[in-house]
Amino acid sequence: MGTYLVIGGSGGIGLALAKQLYADGATVLATYNKHPVQNEGIEFIHFDALDMASPITFIPDSLDGIAYCPGTINLKPFERLKPQDFEDDFRLQVTGAIRVIQSALPALKKSGRGSVLLFSSVAVQTGLAYHTQVAASKGAIEGLCRAMAAEFAPSVRVNCLAPSLTDTPLAASLLNTDSKREANALRHPLKRIGTTADLANMAGFLLSEKAAWITGQVLHVDGGMSTLK
Ligand SMILES: NC(=O)c1ccc[n+]([C@@H]2O[C@H](COP(=O)([O-])OP(=O)(O)OC[C@H]3O[C@@H](n4cnc5c(N)ncnc54)[C@H](OP(=O)(O)O)[C@@H]3O)[C@@H](O)[C@H]2O)c1
Repeated sequence: MGTYLVIGGSGGIGLALAKQLYADGATVLATYNKHPVQNEGIEFIHFDALDMASPITFIPDSLDGIAYCPGTINLKPFERLKPQDFEDDFRLQVTGAIRVIQSALPALKKSGRGSVLLFSSVAVQTGLAYHTQVAASKGAIEGLCRAMAAEFAPSVRVNCLAPSLTDTPLAASLLNTDSKREANALRHPLKRIGTTADLANMAGFLLSEKAAWITGQVLHVDGGMSTLK
């Protein structure tokens, strides 16, 4: 099944993906930042993507896939966001991913079937009020995904998932009452919010050899939100 690295594998979609890869027989390394996790069989390493000075020393010699999961949902009116807020978000979501992928690229190439998975958001394809900060960083991730996919082909594939609202610690403040849950579910054509399994299933597929002819794609796992009325 191979060796996979999940950056931000201690919570939400990343944890579900790490567990699923391990259950499928993979060797899984995962990172945590603030919340250490014990999960038999998965090796967890501390990594703070915002600490640009710390060397990335945990990349194995050969790597079949890497997922970069750290993200934010900082929903505010545009005029209440400072330019620095956009820069801080970019550092976590984009510069962090670039740094990790640059470190991992030799190992991904060595595998002969390496793949990279990034996370965008429904808020790039679809304009949503109060989403300017996340849309700016995630838009950059979608461009990065396609450009890296072109540059790394045919040896390494690069794809991206664009979720809508998914039940994870990141989205907790949007889902902390029954009425918020119901209202958010009803906004989606499929009338529910996403689960970590919805996203981990597609993430695992894109990282696997089953997706060997798929690269440079942004897949919308969003309950129909980005395309249906
Ligand atoms: N959930 C949604 O509704 C939703 C919607 C659209 C897009 N997305 C995107 O999907 C991806 C996964 O989201 P999620 O909801 O699963 O997020 P999550 O619940 O917040 O989990 C994020 C993971 O990233 C780690 N992390 C956070 N800050 C980090 C840092 N500075 N350095 C290294 N690791 C860090 C966390 O580690 P610790 O917990 O150990 O700190 C955790 O393992 C994100 O890119 C997000 O933007 C999510």
